[in-house]
Amino acid sequence: MRSPGLFSALVIAASVLGGVFGLEDEGVEARGIDATVSCKQIAKAISSESDVYWPGIFLFWLFSHHYSHLVDTLSSDSATCSVEPGNVEDLGKILQIVGRNRTPFAVRGGGHTANPGFSSTPGVHIAMFRFSEVKYDSTTETVDIGAGLVWDDVYAALEPLGINVVGGRVTGVGVAGFTLGGGYSWLSNERGLTIDNVLAFDLVLPDGTFTKVTQETNPDLFWGLKGGFNNYGIVTKFTMKAFPQGPVWGGLITITGDHLDEVNAATAKFAATVTDPKAAIITTYNFLLGAAGVSQLLFYNGPTPPAGIFDDFLAIPHFTKDVSTRPFTSLILSSPANATSGTRGLFHTVSVKDYSENFLNAVVNETRYWGRKLSLASATFISYDIEPFLPTTFSQAAAESAAYPPTRAHLLPTNIYYSWLLSLSDNLMFESIKQSTEHLANVAAAEGQDISDLSLYGNYAVFDTPLEKIYGGNLGRLRSIKNQYDPNDVMGLAGGWKF
Ligand SMILES: Cc1cc2nc3c(=O)[nH]c(=O)nc-3n(C[C@H](O)[C@H](O)[C@H](O)COP(=O)(O)OP(=O)(O)OC[C@H]3O[C@@H](n4cnc5c(N)ncnc54)[C@H](O)[C@@H]3O)c2cc1C
Ligand SMILES: *[C@@H]1O[C@H](CO)[C@@H](O)[C@H](O)[C@H]1NC(C)=O
Ligand SMILES: *[C@@H]1O[C@H](CO)[C@@H](O)[C@H](O)[C@H]1NC(C)=O
Repeated sequence: MRSPGLFSALVIAASVLGGVFGLEDEGVEARGIDATVSCKQIAKAISSESDVYWPGIFLFWLFSHHYSHLVDTLSSDSATCSVEPGNVEDLGKILQIVGRNRTPFAVRGGGHTANPGFSSTPGVHIAMFRFSEVKYDSTTETVDIGAGLVWDDVYAALEPLGINVVGGRVTGVGVAGFTLGGGYSWLSNERGLTIDNVLAFDLVLPDGTFTKVTQETNPDLFWGLKGGFNNYGIVTKFTMKAFPQGPVWGGLITITGDHLDEVNAATAKFAATVTDPKAAIITTYNFLLGAAGVSQLLFYNGPTPPAGIFDDFLAIPHFTKDVSTRPFTSLILSSPANATSGTRGLFHTVSVKDYSENFLNAVVNETRYWGRKLSLASATFISYDIEPFLPTTFSQAAAESAAYPPTRAHLLPTNIYYSWLLSLSDNLMFESIKQSTEHLANVAAAEGQDISDLSLYGNYAVFDTPLEKIYGGNLGRLRSIKNQYDPNDVMGLAGGWKF
């Protein structure tokens, strides 16, 4: 894991230098005058609780920095200005200004999407960092969570209280994009997706006014926000159900390429036989420094797992092993998820019904095939995440209760990630990740799995995925809600999945 970290450092250094030496100015013409005018109007309109940052300032770069960049880190990804609203009134004014001027903008939560333009922009970049509260209410057993946080912050605040929410599985991921897309958690087998556990959204609507969205106050928006990302305005706060949380068991095992058959067998057996909703794994096949290997995350929601569940994994000879009874925050930190941040990257996904050994063999073959081939084109890390959720993940909430998933059919949201260094390779990586995904879909179909109607997860899908694949039959209702609340298409000025 060290090498990608070093590469990241080099890329980061290069982009800082790019800012210092003014390489960003190339994009000025393309941005047009509107963005600069809007930035100036915003600077005038906002209170002292908010700030506007201009390029060239190191802080600006830091605050607009993303987990991955497909677009060029040195120029076109740079916004005209970055705005940090400190309260909902200022955020409302900002939205009114960009809407009136028709200025492209972006809303950034944790900045973890890899899709270009989804939370980055050449125009006005809105960074939500200052919405950072975590407030537990013991009478309602709910937690208010600011939209600018990463899950690490939330867990750290809740752990001393002995409670938890249904959130991210690895370190560094943002609360807002994760939640607004669905949210697959370590607790999903027991509690459903993250959106199934949201009771209220604090929302600045596209016209700049504020509203609290609940099932009672506004059932349409409440449903649409559960999967609808940034189509209905900007969320400033989520109110989520809280649950008691004690110590958990698990962590990370890394395994070298000579034991992949054992990993395949253990993973296929786990997926086919384990029905304890407290148990979960992510098997990540990866290709790093010329060789295939596995990062194996194990999780049990309790201090000691029942005998048998994880024995096969623990018996495989390991390269490193960090598995123990530990606080939830410690388990989250055990993942290597920050290692490749800062490089170029893309995610894509294939939803399947079963993880057979045959399917996992095909995944290993993909890992080796594309790993070898794409290393020659500056790939630093490619990975395939096997995520065997139980059907209970989808039965915790009522059918039709959320925009995503469009049906509550059991699906396994397999995640593919390629990361690389050279912009020259952007198109090759895009074509390759799609080809690999299609190949795996064909392998599943050839096994007799009927996956054609399984939806794809918006937080994993690559940017040109048709909306129908994510939202299925819900797209019509999502569009009519959009027309009602955003008749001037203000949110269309921001990138993302657009209704
Ligand atoms: C290392 C890693 C691990 C991951 N693990 C998981 C996992 O376990 N489970 C899972 O379900 N997903 C996982 N993901 C995917 C993750 O859910 C998405 O990357 C998600 O979009 C991250 O949210 P963010 O706030 O960091 O993203 P951002 O890039 O900030 O935002 C993503 C989208 O949401 C919109 N958005 C952000 N904030 C707001 C807001 N306040 N109001 C309206 N729209 C907003 C943005 O405009 C953008 O279109 C992982 C991703 C990575 C990189
Ligand atoms: C990963 O980065 C996030 C910030 O984005 C930070 O909160 C977290 O502590 C980091 N995790 C590790 C293990 O360093
Ligand atoms: C390995 O993967 C490549 C690329 O998808 C494919 O062409 C090839 O047929 C696969 N080989 C096996 C044995 O599955």
